[in-house]
Amino acid sequence: MGQCPGCGKWNTLEERILSSTPSRKIRSSIKPASITEKEKSDSITRLSSKMKEFDKLLGGGIVPGSVILLAGDPGVGKSTFLLALAKSGYRCLYVSGEESLSQVQDRAKRVGAMLPTVLFLHETSLETILAVIEKEKPDLVFIDSIQTVYSGEARGFAGSVSQIRDAAGMFLELAKRMNIPFVLTGHITKEGQIAGPRLLEHAVDVVLYFEHEKKGPYRFIRAIKNRFGATGEIAVFQMTSSGLQEIPPNKTLVNITESGGIGSILFPQMEGSRVLLHEIQALVTPTGFANGRRVGENIDLSRIHLIAAILEKYMSMRLSECDIFIRVRGGTPLKDPAADLALLLAMASSFLEKPIPAAVAAFGEVSLSGDIRPASETKERLKALLAYKIQKVFVGSKAEASPYPDQAIRVLQTLNEIPAALGS
Ligand code: TYD
Ligand code: MG
Repeated sequence: MGQCPGCGKWNTLEERILSSTPSRKIRSSIKPASITEKEKSDSITRLSSKMKEFDKLLGGGIVPGSVILLAGDPGVGKSTFLLALAKSGYRCLYVSGEESLSQVQDRAKRVGAMLPTVLFLHETSLETILAVIEKEKPDLVFIDSIQTVYSGEARGFAGSVSQIRDAAGMFLELAKRMNIPFVLTGHITKEGQIAGPRLLEHAVDVVLYFEHEKKGPYRFIRAIKNRFGATGEIAVFQMTSSGLQEIPPNKTLVNITESGGIGSILFPQMEGSRVLLHEIQALVTPTGFANGRRVGENIDLSRIHLIAAILEKYMSMRLSECDIFIRVRGGTPLKDPAADLALLLAMASSFLEKPIPAAVAAFGEVSLSGDIRPASETKERLKALLAYKIQKVFVGSKAEASPYPDQAIRVLQTLNEIPAALGS
């Protein structure tokens, strides 16, 4: 069939021959185990990547026999990250179907991964790769990338659904059997999916997305799925001329002393259990058009529309006659619902032309009825802000045991308090 009867797309069907002799042997000796039964190995010893934040992201290191998928856009730094992992000192087998030995050597020299423990193989044949792994028995295997691996036994071209399924299946089996962890890299397609319609995601143990800030040097690894730890956690890196460097949680990606002024305020965004400090900049100016324009960088436009509507309705600010530009600095896009209050203060500050001092942060949710409500994880956010030496914080409500002195916290409950809070 040329067309899929399900989705109507053309040339998306692939032939897959199922085994004609299903094995249906009944093994009567098999018994289920009690869940309380003690595991054979009480504690699995995880491998440390020697990168503190990355180990934390995985839940305490790399679990032997686990298969990790590292997915990201081309050029984000997946291959560079594999070399950073190779610096852990374990015997690593780096299999690349994309780059030759000299290319990888070049990069390894730059990032300090020219180590005798790192073995390199330029190969795309699945059967050969499996044989080399069995023979070499490394501590850690990198496959860069899963889309280049080709099996003579599977159908389709390299990177096709059945090729990826076959290769992933074989790697999973080998990882479990030899108790060796694998890191597979995968490209993301233009539509934002891991090529090979996400079929890898359910099979592997850990799915990591490698993301980058537009135009910025920062890189983020986010755990989307993790059978051995929490998801939603992120690790932050900076791409330098000598490879990827980890950014510890006490270092901010925005310059606090440069924050403040008209329309600028800081916001602590929760990324898993980590607090990332963002700067929100707003510019509200009278429009030259019939309808005001709304332009956002690193933020959803619907969010800007919503906060503008709230300011217009409850504070009589004629924002429909204004252009609104919002820029979010600090790496990741503004997603946290607690950003409402900071966004509202930034817009009000620009509209009223009331500057906000440097090192001032805000967080809290704003309801459609114009109430300011407490944000989730108030205590964690305050703790992080204190560590960043933020002078003053606007909040929707005060945490029971706030680490801040009372005079540094300003609780806002209704929108009417905002002009006074901004000093007008
Ligand atoms: P790469 O790891 O090749 O990306 P991927 O494997 O995800 O396609 O990384 C690519 C980018 O990183 C490349 O544009 C150059 C840059 N880079 C640095 O800035 N510094 C470095 O030390 C290295 C090795 C790469
Ligand atoms: Mg690469």
